[in-house]
Amino acid sequence: MTEPSMLHVEEATKAFGGILALNRVSFDLRQGDILGIIGPNGSGKTTLVNCITGFVKMTSGHIFFKGHDITSKPAHKIADMGVTRTFQIMRPYYSLPAYKNLVIPLFSPRAKRTGGWRGGGKLGDRNTVGIDILEEIGFERDSFVPYKMASTLPTGYLKRLELARCLALRPEIIICDEVFSGLSMSEIASMVPLIERLQMDGITLIMIEHRLRELFRVANRVMVLNFGQKLVEGTPQEVMADEKVKEAYFGSEEVEEVMTYA
Ligand SMILES: Nc1ncnc2c1ncn2[C@@H]1O[C@H](COP(=O)(O)OP(=O)(O)O)[C@@H](O)[C@H]1O
Ligand SMILES: [Mg+2]
Repeated sequence: MTEPSMLHVEEATKAFGGILALNRVSFDLRQGDILGIIGPNGSGKTTLVNCITGFVKMTSGHIFFKGHDITSKPAHKIADMGVTRTFQIMRPYYSLPAYKNLVIPLFSPRAKRTGGWRGGGKLGDRNTVGIDILEEIGFERDSFVPYKMASTLPTGYLKRLELARCLALRPEIIICDEVFSGLSMSEIASMVPLIERLQMDGITLIMIEHRLRELFRVANRVMVLNFGQKLVEGTPQEVMADEKVKEAYFGSEEVEEVMTYA
């Protein structure tokens, strides 16, 4: 029995001048999915995220969230509906302490409406809620990490902060644009259970990743982009076994590694 579609993407197309960054990409995201999106650099992954979340205007195509057409909606409206994203190039307020970065989303209309974070009505003191969220995703409160200036935080924490900014909105969907990149193997290993917990909390996820081994562990479906087009979609096993995928990734140690591993 298939779950209803949370996100229905129909022929998403984006041209930058003469370059077709995204060429008629269609897919469905179902409630509870962790959909992995992989593809070589420049294959259109970030452009797809930007189109879904309203950060760029599509050239043609349609996007529906729970049956509502969100195709031409501005980014803040889409986030307000619960479709959130992290940025591949992290965008914290560097001159604020980490927890203050969350005060801004915690004052958003959506946070007010949903009771924010864990829901349940009143939000209370935003500073405390911000620190609670950060602690939940691995900022050690006892070592005062939530109070540190964002500018002084290492990449691992900044990636978590990106996720925390989504969580502050009590999202239905989080689209993670390479949250593992730039992290050490042990940092990635500690992020995997976090992603699994978000899924258990009822959040539907899209994960764009280069680290195939970890991605294939958490994703239940995988879509491969190549030159702006959908190359294949299927279970991690189906995708790994696909000759077109091996070809697109030819020579990539990562694929060799994950193929052997599987
Ligand atoms: N704002 C932009 N202006 C012009 N070209 C862009 C812009 N954003 C992306 N592109 C181009 O679109 C293609 C896809 O880029 P991107 O979506 O960032 O790929 P990926 O995230 O898969 O690495 C690339 O050729 C890139 O140079
Ligand atoms: Mg990208």
